[in-house]
Amino acid sequence: MTALSVLSVAAEVFPLVKTGGLADVTGALPAALAAEGVIVRTLLPGYPAVMAAIKGGKVVLSLPSLFGGGARVLAATAHGLDLLVLDAPHLFDRPGNPYLGPDGRDWPDNPIRFAALARAAATIATTPALRPDIVHCHDWQSGLVPAYLHYTAAKAPPTVMTVHNLAFPGKAAPSLLATLGLPPHAYAIDGVEFHGTISLLKAGLQFADRITTVSPTYATEIQTRDAGMGFDGLLHHRAAALTGILNGIDTTIWNPATDPPPPPPLSATDRTGRPANKAALQRELGLSTDAPGPLFAVISRLTHQKGMDLLLEALPTLLRQGGQLAVLGTGEAWIESALRDAVSPGRIACVLGYDEALAHRIQAGADALLVPSRFEPCGLTQLCALRYGCVPVVARVGGLADTVIDANPAALAAGVATGIQFAPESASQLEAAIRRTAALYSDSTAWLALQANGTATDVSWRGPARQYAALYRSLLAARA
Ligand code: ADP
Ligand code: GLC
Repeated sequence: MTALSVLSVAAEVFPLVKTGGLADVTGALPAALAAEGVIVRTLLPGYPAVMAAIKGGKVVLSLPSLFGGGARVLAATAHGLDLLVLDAPHLFDRPGNPYLGPDGRDWPDNPIRFAALARAAATIATTPALRPDIVHCHDWQSGLVPAYLHYTAAKAPPTVMTVHNLAFPGKAAPSLLATLGLPPHAYAIDGVEFHGTISLLKAGLQFADRITTVSPTYATEIQTRDAGMGFDGLLHHRAAALTGILNGIDTTIWNPATDPPPPPPLSATDRTGRPANKAALQRELGLSTDAPGPLFAVISRLTHQKGMDLLLEALPTLLRQGGQLAVLGTGEAWIESALRDAVSPGRIACVLGYDEALAHRIQAGADALLVPSRFEPCGLTQLCALRYGCVPVVARVGGLADTVIDANPAALAAGVATGIQFAPESASQLEAAIRRTAALYSDSTAWLALQANGTATDVSWRGPARQYAALYRSLLAARA
């Protein structure tokens, strides 16, 4: 197997910068791909946290005039990742959230900031000393890379565009076309034009050699009007180039055998740590330790996508079943305030914030993880839940449909069920799912079987990495 090099281009990479699952994926995939003979270098913006983490780095490229300022690309390693960092202070030397200014709104120059990332990627991809075999782009922030490589005269490597979430089109005003460095004819239906504006994601979907998304079901859903977010026509047209490859999770980070303290479930047959974890979690969050029903949990961005309004509606049912709820999340102000209002001592706890360590303690201690998403490209929290023996209760959409096996009578009889699914995504179906969960929970044999099947599920990156490696190799073979 000959080694193959990939330039991964992303705006978020765990543990350096993260707002969601995108960072988990770009942070974990390189190590999994290494086992497949694929060497990944990741280009990301030099946000303050990234610059601090790399402490220096070697200049491999100078970009004296990059969208209004001087920039450099620095090569460095951090957390086992081989990084190329775009040091462009005029665009990225801004603390906090990578996309939002102090007023909580998108930085107005976001299209320019991420065009700069894409321009740097395209320059790397066409510089002989740096040129990778493949360029792999993630979401709208790197969507312009395939467009820049399409419009260049230089010899360019093949590109893969991965859609993590179609809900973020990366819009830019049409008047920015020339500023973005695109030719006038790029503003067309077979270019970067998207319903009267420019979409950076559309650029990637239009010009990448291959498109992937993060689950087979989402790959099908996004070709339909309902879930296509305006891209369905294009995606349907490009169906032959589109595949769904499920995400995995980093099983060294999400490892119940070593996740400290207290000792969490150890294996499919030994979940002895769970009751202690649950009691500790309940005490930490001010929940009573004598509730008769399951302790449900949510770890999520609090947005419309994640169906948090459905959860709010279902709370009376959850409590009637003797259940408890622990929420960890941040997001839209109205959901945060409704959840704050819903807090009920002993029964419903809510931590509004971002806390990686608490997310682990919740997975190790809660009985069931609720993921009532309206759409979910893949979802990672249900994968972590499976591994930790926390039973996922999910809407039957996207990657949630692909990763959880519903505890219907046939699956229970066959001994393969790993969780509870509901459809369609409505409060009443969520309530029915909560009732089913409570009934299963009260049957300790059935519940133990769900947990055992969950912990035995392969949620690692091994299989997905193999699929990405095969995709890269097929692209190179097609070019040969
Ligand atoms: P999305 O990327 O749509 O937000 P995913 O399920 O793919 O959803 O990934 C979410 C990631 O972010 C998971 O690793 C999850 O544990 C983490 N996460 C989400 N909200 C929080 C939070 N408030 N605190 C800690 N981790 C969180
Ligand atoms: C997006 C999606 C989520 C997916 C993640 C990583 O944020 O919303 O479903 O798991 O990207 O691919």
